Amino acid sequence: MSSKLIAPSILAADFANLQRDIEMVNKSDADWFHIDIMDGVFVPNISFGMPVLQAIAKHAKKTIDVHLMIVDPDRYIKTFAELGSDVLTVHYEACTHLHRTLQAIKTEGMKAGVALNPHTNVNLLEDTINDIDLVCIMSVNPGFGGQSFIENTYNKVSQLKELITRKGASTIIEIDGGVTNKNAKMLVDAGADVLVAGSYVFKSSDQIETVKDLKKQANS
Ligand code: DX5
Ligand code: ZN
Repeated sequence: MSSKLIAPSILAADFANLQRDIEMVNKSDADWFHIDIMDGVFVPNISFGMPVLQAIAKHAKKTIDVHLMIVDPDRYIKTFAELGSDVLTVHYEACTHLHRTLQAIKTEGMKAGVALNPHTNVNLLEDTINDIDLVCIMSVNPGFGGQSFIENTYNKVSQLKELITRKGASTIIEIDGGVTNKNAKMLVDAGADVLVAGSYVFKSSDQIETVKDLKKQANS
């Protein structure tokens, strides 16, 4: 992928001013909306559910990238398609029949993503990589925004890039957790295509400028 993408994570937005924050993303240099759905079972936190996504989708003018941190995600594939998800990412650790889940996501007209927890080896995707549109490498343990970036992520990105090249796959690589202007360029140099950033964008004083700078770093 030539241009590297920035995906602000709405988890870090001000939910009392959600429309304002969505319009900020629409207006900014960001490429995608990253939407975190947590069920309090797969991860020790609950974020928000369908009515909130529906409200976001009503105003969002860019690709909607949904990251499901839930057990048994197959139950909701159709629902997320109907709500307007363009990319639907499930966790490797939450799927018993990953291949079937990927096919079901594509049947609903969405791009199929697989997220890997920090402890999950990228080579476990050896037999499915050609069926995966996006791999989301978690650079923090999923469940919360604002955590510190795990340095081993660079190794995982390089290993995954090597696997994708070796298998002739067209999978893109997304990084999620602790992304800032300090690690953006190194992540892209290791092979990342999409950078998710929550706290770094929404807690900054000039969000538009922060997104612009991150995009510049990622494409430098
Ligand atoms: C964590 C979520 C992330 C989170 C990233 O479980 O998947 O998308 O919002 O937030 P930051 O950028 O603050 O680490
Ligand atoms: Zn996420």
